[in-house]
Amino acid sequence: MDSILVTGNGPLNGQIPIAGAKNACLTLMPATLLSEEPLTLTNAPRLSDIKTMTLLLQSLGAEVSSLQDGQVLAMSSHDLTSHTADYDIVRKMRASNLVLGPMLARLGQAVVSLPGGCAIGARPMDLHIEALEALGAQIELKDGYLHAKAPGGLKGAVHEMRFASVGATENIVMAATLAKGTTVLKNAAREPEIVDLVECLRKMGAQIAGEGTSTIEIQGVDRLHGATHQVVTDRIELGTYMLAPAICGGEVELLGGRLDLVGAFVEKLDAAAIDVTETDKGLKVRRRNGRVSAVNVTTEPFPGFPTDLQAQMMALLCTAEGISVLEEKIFENRFMHAPELTRMGAQIDVHGGTATVTGVQRLKGAPVMATDLRASVSLILAGLAAEGETVVNRVYHLDRGYEHVVRKLEGVGARIERIKE
Ligand code: UD1
Repeated sequence: MDSILVTGNGPLNGQIPIAGAKNACLTLMPATLLSEEPLTLTNAPRLSDIKTMTLLLQSLGAEVSSLQDGQVLAMSSHDLTSHTADYDIVRKMRASNLVLGPMLARLGQAVVSLPGGCAIGARPMDLHIEALEALGAQIELKDGYLHAKAPGGLKGAVHEMRFASVGATENIVMAATLAKGTTVLKNAAREPEIVDLVECLRKMGAQIAGEGTSTIEIQGVDRLHGATHQVVTDRIELGTYMLAPAICGGEVELLGGRLDLVGAFVEKLDAAAIDVTETDKGLKVRRRNGRVSAVNVTTEPFPGFPTDLQAQMMALLCTAEGISVLEEKIFENRFMHAPELTRMGAQIDVHGGTATVTGVQRLKGAPVMATDLRASVSLILAGLAAEGETVVNRVYHLDRGYEHVVRKLEGVGARIERIKE
């Protein structure tokens, strides 16, 4: 298995282009199942998760072609040949469950494997099921698979989710586009990826209002048509690379970066003594003089601080002046990077969903293990500012969510290389 060797170095300077959002693309791709006509996505990121979703859609009979070096995905679901999302694919990536809503809406039936556990927590599907049942679906669990039917078609309804789940919101919004009548989804998630999905669905002919707020109203239509849509900027990749100059010093411009995508995160950077400014091409990040200051962070649904940036923020706070408290409120087991950072000399105490980080002057390089996608990149960030060499093992996690990570960081002066095995 490949690993990544990072050698601690000085300030980083230059520009990093930010790709299209993995999480937006993973919900936009299943939207193809809603229509017989082609859906084309531009600005798609080149990631293994996108390949996994491609395989899943192809297994259902959709055609998916990757064009322009993977940045354009041309899809057509004219003839669907299966309505079963197999365990072998779903277990690799939880986002596979996003085919449930569209298949049910288009075909009146869907069989989707339950995703099972993952490194950061149990991640059940109850919120998806409750909402689809509110639209009239009949769902039962058999042999580890959800068997969903809507023989007379889905029917619009008013439904309030117990928690603003991103995936459940996406599944329900997609399903409701073809339901009979009006659906009102209350306590909906407000993430930018959902806004992006709605913009695409609207181009396909869907009638939706309220995206980006906690009440989304969907007026069902008889059919959706083809469209072309540009995937929104990846706010998590953006935030991750904003932390590189924050940790190492220097000044880096993130091409395509947008403040509205990372508001709560930028507030915390500001409190930590990191400057973020808007430019013509994106955002520029520079650390003010001296060490960064400790800050407290609580993860929340958007527009709060994203759980997907918690591990990377912890890497920054390991060398901050003072004590920072990080509270993880979205996933129950998302501090697996903490013991790895501790191997690099960080002082971190974890109790349940709270991590207390006492800043040290400098981290020291060490061999470490990536446990999930965001944890792996946090270890790379930590290694950039550590003394000596850090080897991050199990980097297949990284390939799920960061394209060309070595090239992008090398481009701003980092000493980083991929060691092939
Ligand atoms: C999405 C993102 C992921 C991000 C997460 C939270 C994608 C592909 N992934 O995941 O990167 O970390 O949002 O911002 O977009 N839950 C239930 N029952 C359910 C569904 C969820 O209890 O039916 C719980 C989960 O276990 C978790 C919390 O709700 O603790 C948040 O999950 P959710 O918002 O659904 O995240 P995902 O859509 O899986």
